Amino acid sequence: MSMDNTSHPDRPKRMAGVMEATMDVYEAVTSRRAVRGFKNDPVSRAVLERVLSAAAWSPSGSNIQPWNTYVLTGPPLVELKTSAIERVAHGDHWDERQYQMYPPVLKSPYGERRSAFGKERYSALGIAREDWEARQRAAIANWNCFGAPAALFCYIDRDLGWPQWADVGMYLQTVMLLLRAEGLHSCPQMAWSQVRETVAEVLSPPDGLILFCGMSIGYEDLTVSSARTGRAPLHETVTFVGG
Ligand SMILES: Cc1cc2nc3c(=O)[nH]c(=O)nc-3n(C[C@H](O)[C@H](O)[C@H](O)COP(=O)(O)O)c2cc1C
Repeated sequence: MSMDNTSHPDRPKRMAGVMEATMDVYEAVTSRRAVRGFKNDPVSRAVLERVLSAAAWSPSGSNIQPWNTYVLTGPPLVELKTSAIERVAHGDHWDERQYQMYPPVLKSPYGERRSAFGKERYSALGIAREDWEARQRAAIANWNCFGAPAALFCYIDRDLGWPQWADVGMYLQTVMLLLRAEGLHSCPQMAWSQVRETVAEVLSPPDGLILFCGMSIGYEDLTVSSARTGRAPLHETVTFVGG
C-alpha cells in the first residue's frame, strides 16, 4: 500500500510546516511502550528523517555523539527479516556475543523484576511457562520486527566505554519519544544482536562497530493484545535527600 505517512491518521495533527509541540512530554513518555504488533502501513522517509534529525540533539559526553544508526525499510528489511527468521527457525547458534546482555546471575531486585516481566508477558500471550514451542514462536516474532515496516539498527564503536553506551541509550529513548509525537510506536530489541552477522550481511557496517540493538518502528496494530508493564514503586529506585 502506498500512502503519504506524513498525514497518517494515527499521527497527531500539526499545522503545516510549523514545528510546534505535538505531544506533551509526559504523554510521550507514558504512552511509549515496547509495542509488539504493528500494522504494515509504511512509515515515510520524511517522518523518519524528521525524527532522527531531532534526536541528533540528544546529549552526549563532550558531544561525541557515539551513535551510528542504520534505517531499514522496504525490500532490504524484508530480506533481513526472512534471513533472520530462517536462521532462527533452523536452530542455528547465535552469533558470538560482543557484549553481555545481562550478567549470568541477576541479583536481587533485578532477577525478581526480570521474572515478573517474563510472567506478565507470557501470561498476556496465554503461553504456559513450560510451553517452550510457544515461547519460541513468540521470540521469533522479534526477527519479523513484530510486523513493523521499518527498523533501525544502532551501533557503537567497540573502543568506546560505558559512558558512551549510556549516551546511546539516551539517544534511543529520544528517538522513541519523538516517534510517539509522530503517532508511531517502537520496540527496542537486543534480540537483533544475537544475529548480528545476518544484520551485517545487509548493512555492511564498517569494522569496529558493535550492534547494540535494533528497533522496530511502525503504527500499532491494536488487534494484537498487549500488556502494560509495571514499574517498581518510586521509593525503590529514587532516594530524595534534603528538602
Ligand atoms: C535496550 C533494550 C533492549 C530490549 N530488547 C528487547 C527485545 O529484544 N525484544 C523485546 O521484545 N523487547 C525488548 N525490549 C523491551 C523491554 O522488554 C521493555 O522495554 C520492558 O519490558 C519495559 O516495558 P515497556 O517498554 O513496554 O514499558 C528491550 C528494551 C530495551 C531498553
